[in-house]
Amino acid sequence: MGKKVLILSGSPRKGGNSDTLCDQFLLGAADAGNEAEKIFIRDKNIKYCLACGTCYAKKEACVHHDDMTGIIEKMINADVIVMATPAYFYAMSGQMKVLIDRTIARFLEIRDKDMYFILTAHNDEKASAERVMEGFKGYMACLPGAKEKGVVYGLGVFDAGEIKTHPAMQEAYETGKSV
Ligand SMILES: Cc1cc2nc3c(=O)[nH]c(=O)nc-3n(C[C@H](O)[C@H](O)[C@H](O)COP(=O)(O)O)c2cc1C
Repeated sequence: MGKKVLILSGSPRKGGNSDTLCDQFLLGAADAGNEAEKIFIRDKNIKYCLACGTCYAKKEACVHHDDMTGIIEKMINADVIVMATPAYFYAMSGQMKVLIDRTIARFLEIRDKDMYFILTAHNDEKASAERVMEGFKGYMACLPGAKEKGVVYGLGVFDAGEIKTHPAMQEAYETGKSV
């Protein structure tokens, strides 16, 4: 039976380099018979965490009523979670970080996930992209049973679309196919 694959596309640039790699990953995952869905985070209404404690201290529903309710539910129900971001000042994009912070309401329920990452950057040195991965590794350390299964690097690309001739295109497709 196919797996539920949730792809969180974290660039603000739709059709940009990381978003294009997300589409390749999705194609591969779907071709292998999985149920794959991509969420383009920028299209969603996600307010940032206020650290008010309503969810984690009072154990009540989040004070925000926005798209994050449904996204957390999808993260909990997925077998595979893919997080994609461009390098922004050697960190993940703001959109992705806001999403991650909002999972504080239910992150302990995001259990036993196979995690994949897609990173794009202008700098073509892998060591630089590893800095971006550090943020994701910290998040994975908080999710019970999360396993890092793969990272697709699209390095040395700046303008939207540059990725189309990059070997990462095939790699993203094959990685998606192998989940
Ligand atoms: C605000 C901003 C910050 C960036 N910071 C970095 C960086 O720290 N290192 C790097 O290699 N590229 C950096 N870049 C370049 C992007 O990572 C690169 O253009 C990437 O391909 C964008 O992916 P996207 O098309 O998915 O948005 C930055 C771009 C922007 C707009």
